Amino acid sequence: LNYSPSEPPFVTYYVPFIGSMIEFGIHPIKFIRKYQKIHGNFFTFLMFGRRMTVCIDIDGNDFVFNVKHSNVTAEDAYNSLTKPVFGEGVVYDVPNSMLMEQKRMVKAGLSIENFRAYIPIIIMEVNQYVDKYWTKDEDSIDLLQSISEMIIMTASHTLLGPEIRSRLYEGIADLYHTLDSCFTPIHFLFEWLPLPSYYASEKAHAELDSIFAGVIAERRKNPAEKHIDMLDALMASKYKTGEPLSDKHVGNMLIALLMAGQHTSAATTTWALLNLAANPDVADEARKEINALVGQELKGDNVPDISYEDVKDFNVLNNVVRETLRIRSPLIQLMRKVVKPVAVPNTSYVIPAGYYIIASPIISSTDEKYYKNAEDWIPSRWNSDETDESADKNMTDYGFGAMSTSARSPNLPFGAGRHRCIGEQFAYLQIKTILYTLLTRFEFELDPKRGMPERNYQSMVVLPEGPVLCRYKRRVTAN
Ligand code: HEM
Repeated sequence: LNYSPSEPPFVTYYVPFIGSMIEFGIHPIKFIRKYQKIHGNFFTFLMFGRRMTVCIDIDGNDFVFNVKHSNVTAEDAYNSLTKPVFGEGVVYDVPNSMLMEQKRMVKAGLSIENFRAYIPIIIMEVNQYVDKYWTKDEDSIDLLQSISEMIIMTASHTLLGPEIRSRLYEGIADLYHTLDSCFTPIHFLFEWLPLPSYYASEKAHAELDSIFAGVIAERRKNPAEKHIDMLDALMASKYKTGEPLSDKHVGNMLIALLMAGQHTSAATTTWALLNLAANPDVADEARKEINALVGQELKGDNVPDISYEDVKDFNVLNNVVRETLRIRSPLIQLMRKVVKPVAVPNTSYVIPAGYYIIASPIISSTDEKYYKNAEDWIPSRWNSDETDESADKNMTDYGFGAMSTSARSPNLPFGAGRHRCIGEQFAYLQIKTILYTLLTRFEFELDPKRGMPERNYQSMVVLPEGPVLCRYKRRVTAN
């Protein structure tokens, strides 16, 4: 293979074209750590004909997240994967400046006023779910499946609105599922193959479009009737030019948001609960704090509505989510494509056009250099700066997790820079409210036969390996 000496080092491989795909695919984190030891924080490997340059540790994070858009773009890396799912005209199917405007529009649906309205809806949806499916006093359930359902119902209700939520089981959930099946590494690697899932997704997309168009048209007929949800926010939003987001693009944006938040939040909530099941002392500490904040001892089916301020002040749950994201970030490979050769600051490396660069913030967030007992789940570490000298210097904490203002941090589960997640605060609100409801009503225990599941790296979002069995036990109301 020909590469100039100023490129980052190349990982040796033995099978042409395929390169290191198998070793990387089986356990990407092990793969990256192994070659980090040999080559340092920047190195390239071959994967199915593509050259992928891994950029890790704080310098790698900073490089990928803050590199100039004229040299390196996300849309060239992601659009073939996301367009069949999100549809045209949104996110990576538009120039970056337009995505920035679309992200601003989404923020209107994630205001504090909206969050206040979302909390009782989330509690109600979780209650409805467990009343219907967790009916025994004690049982073993597939936790990932249950939590995924709760996430889809709470997100559909709060973001897409009650009309679409009420029709979720008239086939809409299946349509989501069809779209979702395009969101796999296969579709990234074989973008040029006419995979059957593409045809299915096109059909599913057309059906969803027409359902959304119907709901939007109904709402447009009654402009005086206000809804506090993402749908209303997007229907009212305009580009700087004054042009509104078209109804079709409103629908596509909603699909994109739902997809962006589904597996990420479901995985995080599931890992959080599994860790709480394995650490009942932390679960009790969370309950104690909740009781103190709401001013009564909560136990059993009485799950009162709580305020936005209460959710914000659930510090133990905050630490639980933050610590879960540190060691089990659902997104472990964030990609960009080099469109013009780009120099890596403070090195002699230049990465040629056509290469992909990969950030993997989980490498630094589980590095002993930054966190003591880095692989262990210790939510209380976020109570102090003890293990985290450099980690938090550049962050402002708004009570819903760390809002990073810089990419020079080892802990970036939501990314940084222009493509940083806008769903972080919503995710924290949703996850903490679900945990509040479930911890009030149930105790959890790991399934003795399954224990703590391993990670499954076969999907774009890292999930716990199924079946994710977990035991619940109803907490009986004290009287
Ligand atoms: C971007 C993580 C939930 C919407 C991102 C990125 C990460 C991330 C790492 C950066 C991607 C990149 O740089 O390539 C997460 C995690 C979540 C979560 C861990 C839950 C625990 C959500 C939710 C929403 C959402 C609930 C929507 C309500 C977005 C959007 C982007 C994004 C719109 C921006 C994409 C861009 O500008 O390129 N997320 N996310 N996310 N996320 Fe999230």
